[in-house]
Amino acid sequence: MSYRFFHRPILAALILWGALIGPLCPTVHAQDSQTLKNLQVFPKDITRPELIDRMRPFSFALDVRCQYCHIGGDGVSFEGVVFESGDDPDKVKARFMIRMTENLNRQVLPLIPQRDEPPMEITCKTCHRGQSKPILLTQAMQRILDTEGGEAAVNLYRELREKSALIGSFDFREWEVNTLGERLEREGKTKDAIMIYELNRGFYPESISIVLALGRMYEADENTPSATRNTSKKGSQGS
Ligand code: HEC
Ligand code: HEC
Repeated sequence: MSYRFFHRPILAALILWGALIGPLCPTVHAQDSQTLKNLQVFPKDITRPELIDRMRPFSFALDVRCQYCHIGGDGVSFEGVVFESGDDPDKVKARFMIRMTENLNRQVLPLIPQRDEPPMEITCKTCHRGQSKPILLTQAMQRILDTEGGEAAVNLYRELREKSALIGSFDFREWEVNTLGERLEREGKTKDAIMIYELNRGFYPESISIVLALGRMYEADENTPSATRNTSKKGSQGS
């Protein structure tokens, strides 16, 4: 295969595209000019550059490389990537997602009474916001809390706060995390609630709500039999 199938302006556009998308998808190879083999969602007569223009927002929305959905190769270059393969589960899921998003925009949202004009369009990024699997901060913390405990949840919070500051995938405002503390409080998971509130106090030292919640939690912890009592409390009654 060679570039002779492309007109010069298209070739130039492709090269420019390759340069622009460099960090996510390094090189555009001559072999990519093959015809498209396994399209089930996009129209069969779509050109390769047009298709790739539709693919790029997927990568950006999920903050993944092309290879997240396309198997083969070394995961960095396009060498050996089998774009037409149907074997990658993420590609299969992505197909479902493309159809779902189309349905929401074409079938569901037009039914809203007194809809805004111009209408809002749902895109992959509306939900994904830089996550391959869109999840809320408190959902992610709750999940890890259930399996690995409070300390792991605290570490996850710190890691996400550092990593996702720019991309804005998560809500780090005070009450987002307080609601997780409250849930743990209701479930009687005093130690975990203390860890979560202490974490949040570090970022919101002025918050009265957190201080009050911690007061309640340390008191509840005092009243729990010592065998299960929190041993790592900070800033409590003192000596
Ligand atoms: C979130 C998943 C996802 C990401 C990321 C993604 N793709 Fe795709 N890609 C798909 C799906 C799904 C199809 C099949 C579309 C269809 O069935 O019409 C596809 C099809 C293709 C095809 C057509 C293969 C063929 O011959 O049938 C090419 C080429 C391709 N993608 C290139 C890319 C490139 C280049 C990137 C990075 C910019 C990329 N893709 C990123 C999901 C993805
Ligand atoms: C209405 C919200 C929403 C929209 C819009 C949306 N997604 Fe998703 N997507 C989700 C949710 C929620 C999941 C996780 C589903 C699960 O596994 O329970 C998901 C999962 C996925 C996965 C699987 C990830 C994994 O690691 O398992 C892929 C790939 C994906 N979406 C691609 C896309 C693409 C591409 C688009 C745009 C065409 C898109 N999504 C639009 C909500 C959305």
